[in-house]
Amino acid sequence: MTGCAGFIGSHLTEGLLGGGAEVVGVDCFNDNYGRAQKLQNLSLAREWDGFDFVPLDLALGDLADLVEDADVVFHLAAEPGVRPSWGAAFERYTRNNVLATQHLLEAVRATPEKRFVYASSSSIYGQAETLPTHEDMTPMPYSPYGVTKLAGEHLCQLYHRNFELSTVVLRYFTVFGPRQRPDMAFSRFCRAARDRTRVDVFGDGQQTRDFTYVGDAVAATIAAGTRAAIDGQVFNIGGGVHASVNETLTLLTEIAGCEIDVRREPRQHGDVRDTSADTTRARRLLGFEPATGLRDGLSEQWSWMTAVALR
Ligand SMILES: NC(=O)c1ccc[n+]([C@@H]2O[C@H](COP(=O)([O-])OP(=O)(O)OC[C@H]3O[C@@H](n4cnc5c(N)ncnc54)[C@H](O)[C@@H]3O)[C@@H](O)[C@H]2O)c1
Repeated sequence: MTGCAGFIGSHLTEGLLGGGAEVVGVDCFNDNYGRAQKLQNLSLAREWDGFDFVPLDLALGDLADLVEDADVVFHLAAEPGVRPSWGAAFERYTRNNVLATQHLLEAVRATPEKRFVYASSSSIYGQAETLPTHEDMTPMPYSPYGVTKLAGEHLCQLYHRNFELSTVVLRYFTVFGPRQRPDMAFSRFCRAARDRTRVDVFGDGQQTRDFTYVGDAVAATIAAGTRAAIDGQVFNIGGGVHASVNETLTLLTEIAGCEIDVRREPRQHGDVRDTSADTTRARRLLGFEPATGLRDGLSEQWSWMTAVALR
């Protein structure tokens, strides 16, 4: 399990432990956000006997020993986020998203029967021509981040084709819930509501997203690690909750019981207009059945955000 101290990775780690698995969790506490939040993300997992934490940078060195005893490798570690991926930061994106993925695939190459689950992103589609978007649409990333996530997908596919590695690619659509990364919209909105501070909203707020509750993303990811006969497959993982940024702000004012002070800023480079996942394949082959809607999931995130002042 790579990226175990991150937002989705920490939930996945707990989901796996809860299901009886033994988990070796890897993370390097990348500085994309505070170490304190990542340590806190890990705190529940660390109480389990079946959990081993390995502080390691996947972009460095040979990883063969690390994956030796694993039946499944869940690769979630990455440099996430669309907007910061321009300019000099691109080096971090290629390093943590492409090079690190290649290192891990090389380590697994000798034992192709291991399942390798790669966390990709709706960002690989860019400004999708068709909504909802099917997995077979031609990827056309609109941000440097999307390019690096797509490169990671291509690496998985070529190791699958050349060495029969059992790779599975999951394209997550905007994941939300407790522990969401502090740079993501719902985190910023909740923080502004809690602290009574101003928050920037980019563009006209009419851009829409397919939102996925983190518990549903975790269930799909565990299924991708265990289901038979899905080698080499690519799946959209979208919660099926389609809303505009403005609608989510209105919903949060209801949940938080206060107005949110919004400053409108120009649309940011790399931000796409709409995302919407066609999840037919995930429903059929992974048994994917998203269970948490926007109001319930955002309420959970709000409760988490207000419980501790750290975020
Ligand atoms: N959050 C979303 O909405 C979303 C959407 C689409 C795809 N994804 C993908 O899901 C995965 C998890 O995203 P997240 O939002 O939980 O991000 P996150 O930043 O919270 O977690 C990623 C973790 O990976 C670790 N990491 C980065 N580079 C590393 C390296 N070289 N070696 C070891 N550890 C490293 C970081 O320290 C971090 O804890 C990523 O692959 C991301 O691209 C997320």
